[in-house]
Amino acid sequence: MTASKDGQGLLKGSAKWWMLWVLLTVGGGVYLGTELFISEQKALFLPGQTTHGHHQIEMQCTVCHADGFNSEVVLQDACMNCHGDELDDAQDSHPRSKFTNPRNAELLNHLDARQCVACHVEHRPELITTMGVSQPINVCVHCHTDIGEDRPSHQGMEFNTCQSAGCHNFHDNRALYEDFLLAHADEPKTLSEPVRPLRNFSARYFDKSGLAERLTAEQILSRAPVIKQPIPENWAHSSHAAAAIECKDCHGNEASWKEKPEHTVCESCHENEVSTFLQGKHGMRLAQGLSPMTPAQSELNIHVEKSHQELTCNTCHTSHDFDTRKAAVDKCIGCHNDEHSNEYLRSPHYTLWRKELKGEAAPGTGVSCATCHMPATRKGSGSKGRIFVDHNQNANLRPNEKMIRSVCMNCHGLGFSIDALADPVLVEHNFPGDPSVHIESIDMAVERDEKRGKRESIYD
Ligand code: HEC
Ligand code: HEC
Ligand code: HEC
Ligand code: HEC
Ligand code: HEC
Ligand code: HEC
Ligand code: HEC
Ligand code: HEC
Ligand code: HEC
Ligand code: HEC
Repeated sequence: MTASKDGQGLLKGSAKWWMLWVLLTVGGGVYLGTELFISEQKALFLPGQTTHGHHQIEMQCTVCHADGFNSEVVLQDACMNCHGDELDDAQDSHPRSKFTNPRNAELLNHLDARQCVACHVEHRPELITTMGVSQPINVCVHCHTDIGEDRPSHQGMEFNTCQSAGCHNFHDNRALYEDFLLAHADEPKTLSEPVRPLRNFSARYFDKSGLAERLTAEQILSRAPVIKQPIPENWAHSSHAAAAIECKDCHGNEASWKEKPEHTVCESCHENEVSTFLQGKHGMRLAQGLSPMTPAQSELNIHVEKSHQELTCNTCHTSHDFDTRKAAVDKCIGCHNDEHSNEYLRSPHYTLWRKELKGEAAPGTGVSCATCHMPATRKGSGSKGRIFVDHNQNANLRPNEKMIRSVCMNCHGLGFSIDALADPVLVEHNFPGDPSVHIESIDMAVERDEKRGKRESIYD
């Protein structure tokens, strides 16, 4: 019997629990009316631990279950609300539309792939592998049994190898499609000009705001006495001062002075940074209107003294300095304390980063934590386009092939990037040397293409 069938039985039973929970909450709410009490109630009815991706918001039962607690439709809508755009951007290889096509109907006898919960259940930690997946690793066998016949290169391959690193993913195959492999088949290990794109924020801001005559930092400061606040030490050298962003832009005026401006204040000028921040693990609690995440709520290895530091914009962009170079490495390793993070300081990438900081190498040639985890991303095209820093550090994290196009290929060839990311030991030690594995997908694509005689006509 499949997991989803079991789940349905449980769900029917659990509807009673849900009613009970609602009654208790309402009743309890009348008596105590404290949020804490409600949380404890919910925890009592949580059937089991939620996945790595959702544990921070597991007490927000209604974001997934809404009122129609045992309805698959409700769950499906909830998943799509939060993940729909990202799957679209990834050109999902197995969108729901592939399976609503009558031609593929019989494939669903084994596994109803139209439903996210067919492969991603919750509260059942014993079923979960990586990335919140609750199906065994050979799940592809249900629909691709004929692959060996269609592709001789695949004969005899085990179904538990399809989604091993570097070969295929279920959703995001943008760096792995055959055409893409062929187009980038002959690239060297490192490109001749290895640079990452640079953000171009200010240009657009000033176009829009029409601040033709900017105030100097001195002019802003000369007005400061009006607001009766001490002038912060770092202020005068900050890029906000240089850009004539005044005290009141963040703190409000004297009457409404806010001591600690929150991310909602930054949002008026930095919309993309805020919205992406709220989608990743650093900001996902704020997105739900909960208190900011603190490392104490996580199972990752974090320096103990940071256990209770809240994660907001100001954690990395300390007021009033806002120097992004400090944010890109120092802040990260101030918290993250695992092998991968610590070993970074011994990697060739860090050497490049230090050279950039010292001015010995061109801007964009260094590789910081943020280069990989918060890549500069283009939004919009042409003159309206702008390059901003993606603040959702989960957007390209897993499966790690997502990093190939957004990061590695700015500087490395496709083949080298695939191999490097498919080597878990190399990733754990933060890329100190050459990969020790070779993924044959490019070789296979080239061989197939040569047999068809197509490669010569297109590429020679
Ligand atoms: C991130 C989304 C999410 C959140 C948050 C969430 N659930 Fe669930 N829940 C699910 C999914 C997915 C299933 C599985 C449905 C299936 O198997 O078809 C599920 C199933 C259940 C079931 C059915 C029993 C079972 O084990 O299948 C109960 C009861 C339940 N959830 C209660 C809760 C409660 C109570 C909370 C809040 C404390 C909560 N859930 C929060 C996604 C969520
Ligand atoms: C309120 C928004 C929200 C809802 C609803 C939601 N998710 Fe998520 N989900 C997140 C966030 C935030 C993360 C963590 C960041 C990331 O990995 O993208 C995440 C992570 C994940 C992951 C990756 C886990 C990992 O370890 O890499 C999967 C898979 C996933 N969600 C599937 C689902 C499915 C299926 C549903 C519907 C049952 C669902 N989500 C409902 C917000 C949501
Ligand atoms: C047939 C099984 C299956 C179904 C159905 C499925 N997924 Fe997945 N999902 C996977 C597998 C396997 C992975 C692991 C990474 C990969 O292979 O793409 C994954 C990974 C993910 C991730 C994290 C990695 C990423 O690429 O962003 C998210 C988010 C996600 N799924 C959301 C969803 C949502 C939302 C739905 C419903 C629209 C859904 N999945 C339906 C199998 C499935
Ligand atoms: C529920 C059935 C089902 C499952 C399970 C399934 N696939 Fe597919 N897959 C399909 C269908 C249908 C197509 C489209 C085939 C076609 O158009 O000829 C497809 C196409 C593909 C393609 C080609 C994509 C493209 O757009 O060219 C790849 C690669 C792929 N699947 C890999 C996988 C991998 C890896 C797994 C396991 C993680 C998997 N599939 C699991 C049904 C499934
Ligand atoms: C870009 C937004 C921004 C601007 C502009 C700004 N501040 Fe701040 N300020 C902040 C933030 C954010 C905090 C809260 C820091 C925290 O929570 O650690 C803060 C905190 C403060 C504090 C509390 C003590 C401290 O340093 O943490 C004072 C006083 C202050 N600001 C004065 C000023 C004055 C005077 C100006 C104008 C010269 C100014 N700020 C301009 C964002 C700004
Ligand atoms: C009124 C508009 C406005 C507000 C509000 C604002 N900023 Fe800015 N921010 C700017 C402008 C303009 C720049 C300068 C861009 C440049 O020089 O490229 C900037 C630059 C930055 C930079 C880049 C600094 C650098 O040296 O590269 C960071 C980081 C930043 N802001 C963070 C924040 C945070 C965090 C908040 C909220 C506490 C905030 N900003 C509020 C307008 C604003
Ligand atoms: C985990 C640390 C971290 C947090 C939290 C964070 N930032 Fe950043 N931010 C960075 C880093 C690192 C860079 C520079 C990356 C680079 O240049 O490679 C950056 C760059 C920026 C920039 C300038 C680049 C651009 O996109 O134009 C702005 C503006 C900014 N952040 C605003 C914000 C705001 C607003 C928040 C809160 C929603 C925030 N940041 C939260 C680390 C962080
Ligand atoms: C205040 C401490 C703190 C700072 C500063 C911080 N992080 Fe994190 N980060 C965390 C915690 C805690 C989590 C895990 C949240 C969870 O378990 O859901 C996390 C999650 C992550 C993840 C996702 C891990 C996963 O398994 O999904 C990445 C990647 C990451 N951080 C990178 C960075 C980078 C890069 C920087 C610097 C630009 C940074 N972090 C700054 C505390 C911090
Ligand atoms: C060259 C790119 C690159 C650099 C530089 C880099 N990382 Fe990573 N990071 C990765 C990849 C790839 C993964 C693995 C994703 C996967 O396969 O699970 C990862 C994973 C992580 C995780 C998740 C680990 C876990 O156990 O869940 C954290 C946290 C993280 N990195 C933080 C950092 C920090 C902090 C720095 C800087 C000190 C850094 N990374 C530098 C590429 C990089
Ligand atoms: C800004 C450019 C840049 C980016 C982005 C970048 N790298 Fe690098 N990387 C380099 C340079 C330059 C070297 C030095 C190696 C050389 O000279 O060939 C290097 C070295 C390495 C090495 C060690 C090779 C050796 O011989 O010591 C590995 C492995 C590696 N990179 C993997 C990656 C992966 C994987 C990514 C994407 C997640 C990535 N790099 C992103 C520029 C970059």
